[in-house]
Amino acid sequence: MRFHAVSGQPARQKTDCAIVGVFEPASLGVAATQLDGVLSGRLARLVERGDVKGRPGETLLLDVDGGPCARVLLVGLGRKAGFGRKQYKKALHAAASAVAKTGARDAVCHLSLEPVIDTDAYYRGRLAAEAVGHALYRVPAIRSARQPARPPLKEFGITVSSKDQLAEAERGLAHGRGIAAGMSVSRDLANLPANVCTPGYLAKQARELAREHKSIRTQVLDEPELRRLKMGSFLSVTAGTEEPAKLLVVRHHGGKPGSAPIVLVGKGVTFDTGGISLKQPPGMDEMKFDMTGAASVLGAVRAAAEIGLPLDVIAVVPACENMPSGRATKPGDVVRSMSGQTIEVINTDAEGRLILCDALTYARRFKPAVVVDVATLTGACVIALGAHTSAIMSNDDGLAEELEAAGRRAEDRAWHMPMAEEYHDQLKSNFADFANACGREGGAITAACFLAKFTDGLRWAHIDIAGTAYLGGSQKGSTGRPVPLLVDFLIHRA
Ligand code: BES
Ligand code: MN
Ligand code: ZN
Repeated sequence: MRFHAVSGQPARQKTDCAIVGVFEPASLGVAATQLDGVLSGRLARLVERGDVKGRPGETLLLDVDGGPCARVLLVGLGRKAGFGRKQYKKALHAAASAVAKTGARDAVCHLSLEPVIDTDAYYRGRLAAEAVGHALYRVPAIRSARQPARPPLKEFGITVSSKDQLAEAERGLAHGRGIAAGMSVSRDLANLPANVCTPGYLAKQARELAREHKSIRTQVLDEPELRRLKMGSFLSVTAGTEEPAKLLVVRHHGGKPGSAPIVLVGKGVTFDTGGISLKQPPGMDEMKFDMTGAASVLGAVRAAAEIGLPLDVIAVVPACENMPSGRATKPGDVVRSMSGQTIEVINTDAEGRLILCDALTYARRFKPAVVVDVATLTGACVIALGAHTSAIMSNDDGLAEELEAAGRRAEDRAWHMPMAEEYHDQLKSNFADFANACGREGGAITAACFLAKFTDGLRWAHIDIAGTAYLGGSQKGSTGRPVPLLVDFLIHRA
């Protein structure tokens, strides 16, 4: 998909499809009003007759051949008073989905001319490219029948109200395109079934990223290397499976030589059965998404490379399966982490923290400016925040606020949760330095407290995406989150 920005009157833009908005209750947006001047009032009539109501997500396609455009797509925007980032992004998503079903090869979207609360030309461009990329994404389905044809849409333009906004809008579109590319790798990896997307497959894709981007270098560590590094905690999780575990290190070189990198650690459990603490069957298939943290940090590195961000970003991904077997780790086993601290494995289903802790210790060698880990870590996080908001926990309030702000700007929300000393008591053990699991109260927070024991002296934050990483039910699939948040964070750091 190519994106571009244009300035000038909607009525003068030649295109296969002009996209204009309608507010609720039934009133044409600015672009629709201008365009209606050359369409002899037919848009206004549709609204008067109640054919379009302006409800969020509503679309209506009209053939208007003979004018400057072949088609007009009316898009419902909801109420004008509340028209912000979220509504704008949603409207673009609906518009792109609708245009993709037509034969249009190009479209010009005028929704960016509406008063979107608290956005500039940059964010209007960026959110547009992101939403279009998101809407045009197709899951890598493995079907016997022929795949559906790709939509013919190749070119997507957005309008800005004056020429001096063109450069900013173009910059936003380029960044949005990079974010969409990052989301697309992330969604592909997460959507693939666990019999395809194994730790070895993740390693192959990480090497592929390095082949496709000059700025990326990939290193893959195998089990003998992990044993030499004394990653006893990580290795205890992979003990029950036949699939070899891998540690991926994927670096985007963009910063000045010697500058401190940003390290992103992603949980890469390609399938989580729970191990000996086996999970219940309902919904267990969704545990193929338990490597979404890994997928999102790889996506963020790809986006950083596409955009050409002038900083060093390193994705560190511990990748393995969590399986029961005769060789699997058992509840009560005590393991020694790379940091030297010992852990009593109370519950083998609390495996994410066991692989992340060794990856966090490994991250120290890069002398990072900050370390952010991303993980589908706890069911408790889903109970606390549901499917809309990720949880942030950190040993640095400033860093947590930075990530929260990135989530607000990118419309990929996250919420800062407390992590006070009292919670740490819950992880006490009679047999090791501490336990990997405890009671259910504050489960998302106690998981973060466990990780905090490995981040002394680091500026560190943890993002729990168990609720936001994927949708269930008929919509089942990866959301691509939190790639927009991570990339916005990186852009603001650069
Ligand atoms: N991968 C799960 C967390 C999860 C649950 C992600 C639901 C997405 C949706 C994680 O490994 C896990 O099993 N966590 C346990 C921890 C508990 C045993 C302390 C949980 O949340 O139940
Ligand atoms: Mn688990
Ligand atoms: Zn898990």
